[in-house]
Amino acid sequence: MKAKRIEKILVTGGAGFIGSHTVDLLTKHGYQAIILDNLEPQVHGKQKAKPDYIHKDATFIQHDIQDHNFLTKIISEVDAIIHLAALVGVGQSMYQIERYINANTQATAILLDILAKQEHNIKKLIVASSMSIYGEGKYHCQKCQTEAYPDLRSEEQLKKRQWNQTCPNCKSILEPLPTDEDKPLMPTSIYAQSKRHQEEMCLLTGKTYGIPTVALRYFNVYGSRQSLSNPYTGACAIFTSRILNNNPPYIFEDGNQTRDFIHVKDIAQANLKALEQDNADYKAINIATGKPITILKLAKTLTKLYNKPNLKPHISNQYRKGDIRHCYADITKAQKLLNFKPAITLQKGLTELSQWAKTHNWGATDLFEKALKELKEKHLAT
Ligand SMILES: NC(=O)c1ccc[n+]([C@@H]2O[C@H](COP(=O)([O-])OP(=O)(O)OC[C@H]3O[C@@H](n4cnc5c(N)ncnc54)[C@H](O)[C@@H]3O)[C@@H](O)[C@H]2O)c1
Ligand SMILES: [Zn+2]
Repeated sequence: MKAKRIEKILVTGGAGFIGSHTVDLLTKHGYQAIILDNLEPQVHGKQKAKPDYIHKDATFIQHDIQDHNFLTKIISEVDAIIHLAALVGVGQSMYQIERYINANTQATAILLDILAKQEHNIKKLIVASSMSIYGEGKYHCQKCQTEAYPDLRSEEQLKKRQWNQTCPNCKSILEPLPTDEDKPLMPTSIYAQSKRHQEEMCLLTGKTYGIPTVALRYFNVYGSRQSLSNPYTGACAIFTSRILNNNPPYIFEDGNQTRDFIHVKDIAQANLKALEQDNADYKAINIATGKPITILKLAKTLTKLYNKPNLKPHISNQYRKGDIRHCYADITKAQKLLNFKPAITLQKGLTELSQWAKTHNWGATDLFEKALKELKEKHLAT
């Protein structure tokens, strides 16, 4: 058999949700995965124990990626990097600005500095980008027959509980369109800005030094192993944690906002494809299903799956600053360049999540109200 061009892969953040599924898939395909993860307490709990799901054939190193010398040594020993380590709370990033820029932007700067200055053998760099960098998705005005890229809804509009995006021209309600990679980027949080930094810094440095680099813009990822006690991220995990603790899912606005939910195993497949194929090199690609679902429908589906029909989702008619109304993906580029096709339907994927969550009940501390209180205190939510 032909020797693999890439054998050893560093997965930063490999003990996390997306990282651990990616490591499983890499190992299954005969790669040697080296996990570098500091077991962030917000994700892994204060005791910082190594999660039991970490693949036994992967090398696990508990360390902060921001240690320049340490990272230099590890990079010198691998052939590729999948860079997933990050802090991931959108709302939280608005009052922990320095912390988020350090963990996301600065840490990526350290990684790239090493690639720019040191001898290395890196044949591929994959960086986790995010749909959050788009801000609002792409829209269409039926009346004006034009595409629209609206800004965030104004505070004034939200106060009137007018949730829909309207045409800047004729004021009629805009219809969401699939968002493609050419949509102008409008990050609406420090988290989103840091994801944009990560993406653009990696692509630019990759191009400059001829290191094949791919930025994957994941949409809303869900599935087993997403932290059920991190109230700052992940609608499916937050709803799951609410339901398992016998609290109704809390819905902002009227629940008719839409997102594009993709199962974590499909994300792992996309990572593998970007690693093994070259067509997406030096590009940013949406990774999603291309199918929108409303947040209310998602919450209802979950209460059903957990057999808790009495926990009717609470439609709060309240809002968070920075929230967008609609965004779902155009995945043509991923299909064409990576031959990527999501394989897991929402029903199947949510069933996988619920089965896992039921057996990991111990991990679901519902901290949602604490997080909401923090947002309200900072006037980031009503
Ligand atoms: N989950 C989603 O819906 C989603 C969507 C778009 C993009 N992303 C991106 O995907 C990546 C993985 O996210 P996830 O959902 O698996 O989150 P996660 O919190 O489960 O995983 C992140 C991992 O990184 C580790 N980490 C954080 N800071 C670190 C540091 N300084 N040094 C070493 N390790 C560190 C954490 O301990 C954690 O295990 C992130 O870059 C995130 O921005 C996630
Ligand atoms: Zn119009």
